[in-house]
Amino acid sequence: MIELVDVCLKYPKFEIKNLNLTIKSGEIVAITGNNANGKTTLVKLIAGLIKPQKGKVLFDGQKKGDKKIGIVLQNPDNQIIFNKVYDDIAFTLKNYKVPKEEFDSLIKEALKLVEMEDFTQSETFTLSAGQKQRVVIANMLAIHPDVMIFDEASVYLDTSTKQVLYRIFKRLKNQGVTVIFTTNLIEEIVYADRVAVLDNGQMVAFKEKEEVLKDLSVFRKLGFYIPLKLALIEQLQSIDHVDDEELLEILKGRLK
Ligand SMILES: Nc1ncnc2c1ncn2[C@@H]1O[C@H](COP(=O)(O)OP(=O)(O)OP(=O)(O)O)[C@@H](O)[C@H]1O
Ligand SMILES: [Mg+2]
Repeated sequence: MIELVDVCLKYPKFEIKNLNLTIKSGEIVAITGNNANGKTTLVKLIAGLIKPQKGKVLFDGQKKGDKKIGIVLQNPDNQIIFNKVYDDIAFTLKNYKVPKEEFDSLIKEALKLVEMEDFTQSETFTLSAGQKQRVVIANMLAIHPDVMIFDEASVYLDTSTKQVLYRIFKRLKNQGVTVIFTTNLIEEIVYADRVAVLDNGQMVAFKEKEEVLKDLSVFRKLGFYIPLKLALIEQLQSIDHVDDEELLEILKGRLK
């Protein structure tokens, strides 16, 4: 369980005030919000990359303890250090004090998960933005984290590779890993269990996904663009069938 207790953080033009939030172990949480409303700031607070000026961030009731937290930041260029893909992941493993004899198999496994197994010896600077993002994701998967945070990690991925990422969310959940992802593509909330909505540093909603899908008014009030898929799910009240194929079948039935 991750708890944010009365967390406060003040920047000259932005403030998080007494934020309280509890995330259960093994759930997938989507943090949504338009640009500059605090998504990245919030996940950095959870990951311990920035400290709250007041309040606490607790993991199972303790300050960080021995929990391994993986974070994939918004811009992959800021997270790749080495020239070779293998060396980059090996460096992360070294930082997490993983024994050297495990490197080969962990690196292979992680690159396979992001469908980059043929790039083990590639030069990182030759990779496309989406490939770099996948290497950063592999870096974090390799450490077998307890909590995995993705900050807009799907942005550079093409449509089919986005599906690879969503399958990784599911897989991590099945392994008991807590998954937190931020997004301003609100159709991605269908891959979450619970959805948080940030507005100007305040959490204006934190609800079960089904509840949000049934009634999108929280997004409308904040002026979000509502994508057709979410509008359809809401209109058809098809909250248990959010898969594209299933939705299409429901629509076909209606159009007959
Ligand atoms: N180190 C900092 N110093 C001052 N202000 C900051 C700092 N980091 C973030 N901010 C401000 O905090 C606000 C929230 O930024 P944040 O990056 O958390 O938003 P976001 O929701 O992730 O946006 P985006 O969708 O563009 O990624 C912004 O107004 C930003 O300018
Ligand atoms: Mg951000």
